[in-house]
Amino acid sequence: MKAVIPAAGYGTRLLPATKSQPKEMLPVVDKPAIQYVIEEAVASGINDILVITGRGKRAIEDHFDRSFELESSLKDSEKHDYFEQIRSIADLADIHYIRQKELNGLGHAIYTAKKYVGSEPFVILLGDIIVNNGNPCTKSLIDLFNSNKAPVVGVERVSMEKVDRYGIVDAKKINETTYKIKGLIEKPSPNESPSNLAIFGRYVLTPDIFDCIEHTTPGKNGEIQLTDALNLYLKKTDLYAYEVSGDRYDIGSKIDWLKANIEIALKREDLAEELRQYLALLNLEPKVINDKVTVKEQK
Ligand code: G1P
Repeated sequence: MKAVIPAAGYGTRLLPATKSQPKEMLPVVDKPAIQYVIEEAVASGINDILVITGRGKRAIEDHFDRSFELESSLKDSEKHDYFEQIRSIADLADIHYIRQKELNGLGHAIYTAKKYVGSEPFVILLGDIIVNNGNPCTKSLIDLFNSNKAPVVGVERVSMEKVDRYGIVDAKKINETTYKIKGLIEKPSPNESPSNLAIFGRYVLTPDIFDCIEHTTPGKNGEIQLTDALNLYLKKTDLYAYEVSGDRYDIGSKIDWLKANIEIALKREDLAEELRQYLALLNLEPKVINDKVTVKEQK
């Protein structure tokens, strides 16, 4: 399968940090956020990826390219580990780029991938959502797609006050993790929301979605929404929701970006101990529950 990663948005919520650099390039510990997304795609068996960029996003292309000067200076020095790391980034996958020339919603962005996708099913990973989980969640979505022979949208439960930040699905539970979708609504108010199952940022779809996007009229914020196109798509196909596990961070949100840095660093051998001591100094205690690290304030 091919993957499409939309990464054209402005990152307004993180200004001024994103004035002249893409939000997807902000570091989470020591890697840009989008590298986690691309590594998730690769770990899910995907090696052909289209990144949808826009003006001001060239740093993304540079990051996944060779850097001969840097490589040769690292190779000839003591810093061989860095050399291996830097060299391997350019070989992660076949990465292609296309620009979304005007920002007119997620559906509009995905439509730019029509030619690249061709006639096969494909995966969408939102470029500003990273997941901290042992198992790549995209792989679970692909497995469900293959067993049901039907498209899948990743979802997670959110609190009712937050439904207006997400696409929300109206769905019937089939088993522990799977639901059959009956309808979708983009960023509903809590009182019009059919559930608290929120679209997570990972999708496995078929090329029929492009025809649906063509027929989608501007929705929330006057933009072409992928969620609205999925409502049309439902008339052509069964559509499932898979409840994704793992910690999800929206890198475009300041608080999520901070949490991602702390929680991912707490899982790193080279950083965990020192960070833990620092958090203890602040009277905070990191907790590990079912392999999920969270930082809880001490009572
Ligand atoms: C987009 C989608 C929304 C989804 C969300 C996940 O919204 O339109 O359906 O729930 O991503 O992060 P955005 O966050 O780009 O406004």
